[in-house]
Amino acid sequence: MKILVIGSGGREHAIAWKVAQNSTVEKVYCAPGNGGTFFEDKCENIPLTNLNELISFAKDNHVELTIVGPEEPLTKGFVDEFRKNGLAIFGPSKEAAKLEGSKIYSKDFMKKYGVKTAEYASFDQIKPALEYIKNCCYPVVVKADGLAAGKGVVICENAADAESTLKDFMINDIFAGSGKKVVIEEFLDGVEASILSITDGNTIIPFISSKDHKQIYDENKGPNTGGMGAIAPNPYCTNDVLESFDRDILQPTLKGIKGENLDYIGIIFFGVMITKKGVYLLEYNVRLGDPETQAVLPIMESDLVELIQSALKKDLSNFKLTWKKQSSCCIVAASGGYPASYAKGYEISCEKMNSGKVFVAGAVEKDSKLVTSGGRVLCVQSLGDTAEEAKKKAYDNLKKVSFKDMYFRKDIGTIYEFNR
Ligand code: AMP
Ligand code: GLY
Repeated sequence: MKILVIGSGGREHAIAWKVAQNSTVEKVYCAPGNGGTFFEDKCENIPLTNLNELISFAKDNHVELTIVGPEEPLTKGFVDEFRKNGLAIFGPSKEAAKLEGSKIYSKDFMKKYGVKTAEYASFDQIKPALEYIKNCCYPVVVKADGLAAGKGVVICENAADAESTLKDFMINDIFAGSGKKVVIEEFLDGVEASILSITDGNTIIPFISSKDHKQIYDENKGPNTGGMGAIAPNPYCTNDVLESFDRDILQPTLKGIKGENLDYIGIIFFGVMITKKGVYLLEYNVRLGDPETQAVLPIMESDLVELIQSALKKDLSNFKLTWKKQSSCCIVAASGGYPASYAKGYEISCEKMNSGKVFVAGAVEKDSKLVTSGGRVLCVQSLGDTAEEAKKKAYDNLKKVSFKDMYFRKDIGTIYEFNR
């Protein structure tokens, strides 16, 4: 079997690595892939990102399954176009991908189907938005409606902050259209959890829970990043939390997918906030999380190709998804300066590790070596029988990796309960 994985991050390296473990898979094409997939068994990078070229490639090379990693191709309708061409592809349709692509669409969906979420109002004109923030409780959260590369959410401490954020989004148009419409939302304080899940439109199966660490510095300080490390399971996802999640978030979401007749065979990722007053949904993503995937897939006992095929046959209700009885931790090594500006092109040295895995994100192959090419360069992962052991082993493995100006958080796996 030949598989095509679209994307170039650490998440896509982890997906390619996991599907390559299926014995019927002979080749995993990664488009465009990265330095990690370049060196991965069975994998071959192909330098394509354009939709029509990818469709031609899949046809010419008898690709039997395409997996889309990032949200952008999903919101652009790659899945619909592949299907029109008779190609099997795993991911939501363009319409269903609006659950991530438009905050207003997703908040309205949550409200319509009774998914527990923060109070909100949405605006497509600045005047009523400026009026609204005069009477808000602070802090308040301002969100760009469209995709904004993870930068479209601002927590505003007071009306002056909110006003300047709204002006940046709606008038100065800093997100090139994506912030012309906004959601203004109640601030929720608590601990976040990432619950990646798979759906075939009739069933949603949640994966093991996980936890991202979004800020650049220890103790959750400094600006947000794409994610500086992850652990799975998330120690805050107790049985009580998971029961509330199932009742107040997952089941109403499934009802909504059916009620809206969404063509959704893919990943649905619930970004939740566990608060003192209950478990709330912050957002949907329609793809796997990065770096959560690099922590979660190594503890998945089941075969990912079989899982995806079962979803494509709309037979998920009969799939027994199983997990190793272990914990996983992955730590991101980033270029010094990230998430602001940073240098690229440094050679990466990596000693052999006895266990665990290095997933590559922002690094490319050059003259048979890995060199840095992005902000989040790689992610070192390890399993352990306990969360502490997984964390210790991941940090031990990280000592074997180095490049100039390498930066990482020292506290991945430590949870700071409430921010305020
Ligand atoms: P989102 O893209 O909606 O997940 O927002 C990105 C990040 O902003 C989340 O991971 C949270 O850390 C934070 N955030 C979003 N909405 C809220 C909220 N209502 N209250 C507190 N923090 C939030
Ligand atoms: N790690 C969060 C995300 O992938 O959106």
